[in-house]
Amino acid sequence: MSNLYRPKLTQLPPDMLTLADYERRAPEFMPHPIFEYIDGGCGDDLTRNSNSSAFDRWQILPQSLQNFSRATTATRWFGQALPHPIALAPVAYQKLVHPQGELASAQAADALGALYCTSTLSSVTLEEIAPQVQQRWFQLYWQGNREQSLQLVRRAEASGYQAIMVTVDVPVNGLRQRPQRAGFQLPAGVRAVNLDTIATPGAQALDPGQSVILHGIMPAAPDWEDIRWLRQQTKLPLLLKGVLNPQDAARARDIGIDGLIVSNHGGRSLDGVASPMQMLAAIRQQCGEEMLLLVDSGVRRGTDVFKALALGANGVLIGRPLMYGLAIAGALGVAHTLKLLLEELEMTMALAGCPTLEEISAERLIKTF
Ligand code: FNR
Ligand code: LAC
Repeated sequence: MSNLYRPKLTQLPPDMLTLADYERRAPEFMPHPIFEYIDGGCGDDLTRNSNSSAFDRWQILPQSLQNFSRATTATRWFGQALPHPIALAPVAYQKLVHPQGELASAQAADALGALYCTSTLSSVTLEEIAPQVQQRWFQLYWQGNREQSLQLVRRAEASGYQAIMVTVDVPVNGLRQRPQRAGFQLPAGVRAVNLDTIATPGAQALDPGQSVILHGIMPAAPDWEDIRWLRQQTKLPLLLKGVLNPQDAARARDIGIDGLIVSNHGGRSLDGVASPMQMLAAIRQQCGEEMLLLVDSGVRRGTDVFKALALGANGVLIGRPLMYGLAIAGALGVAHTLKLLLEELEMTMALAGCPTLEEISAERLIKTF
């Protein structure tokens, strides 16, 4: 696509004040099919649309006149010190919206001290992304079998990634909605470069009457035995991304998984599933205080971050907002997006009377349902 990239803003207009401002302007900065790919969920977008409003079901009970002399947003995840609990989610193919793709967003994360999650489907190799950002984790899409999946984990280890997250809500990439809306196809020059050297097993030959999904695609998906095996292969912290069921959370804890991303893939996996905010408290209860719980899907405001922490999360990730920041103003736009969210969190802490993240607890919220 020769006209893939629209000119980026080099200075941010004074009216870019919230993540919603970025979202509103994003369509101007990319071809329509690309916007449809990024913005869309799946099915009728029921889950995608309810993700943000799920946060609105709680309201904040403020507390006044607290002492803020030792206030901080700092936290630790697996011993890694982080200045704040806001991370960039793994998002595939970032060259769709910027010629430098993941290199630019990783630099933005680094500037804000934010954790960066490299996708298996990144359009820049995981090795090239690594030097751009200090705090980095690798997201693994299972590659059909153990040996091929482990190759990616070994590369991530060799490049100094500090944790591995296995995405389990779309256990095989082929399970994402097909065909794509608005005729979206990857343009020339944008592809999953990490997989260039991985020979993914071919599709299963089907007998008459067999299902493409159940018998053709699902045999390539991992199961609990594969996760248990993977747990034994690496010393890095291992997380599962896309857990909503408290029983899965308990099972993950029992086999030594270190953390979970409570997520519905931004409403892109199964339309009609619950929002992370509905399940978070139950998952925290099931898996205990020790497990690291991060939340994504619909986080758009500092108050959303506050509410997620109040219900038991240790932090949050943002997906689409990263792509909108990148499309509109490159690394500057991603850094500004992170900064806006962080300042909104700080404002919420200040006005709700919570000088540290530890003080953000369930008593700070009023249920409106
Ligand atoms: C994603 N997501 C995703 N997740 C993952 O584990 N691996 C991936 O490669 C991708 N790729 C991807 C591409 C695009 C365009 C989007 C929008 C999302 C899901 C992502 O990590 C995260 O779970 C959601 O984006 C969070 O929801 P919000 O913040 O977009 O509402
Ligand atoms: C998506 C896949 C790549 O959400 O995770 O588009």
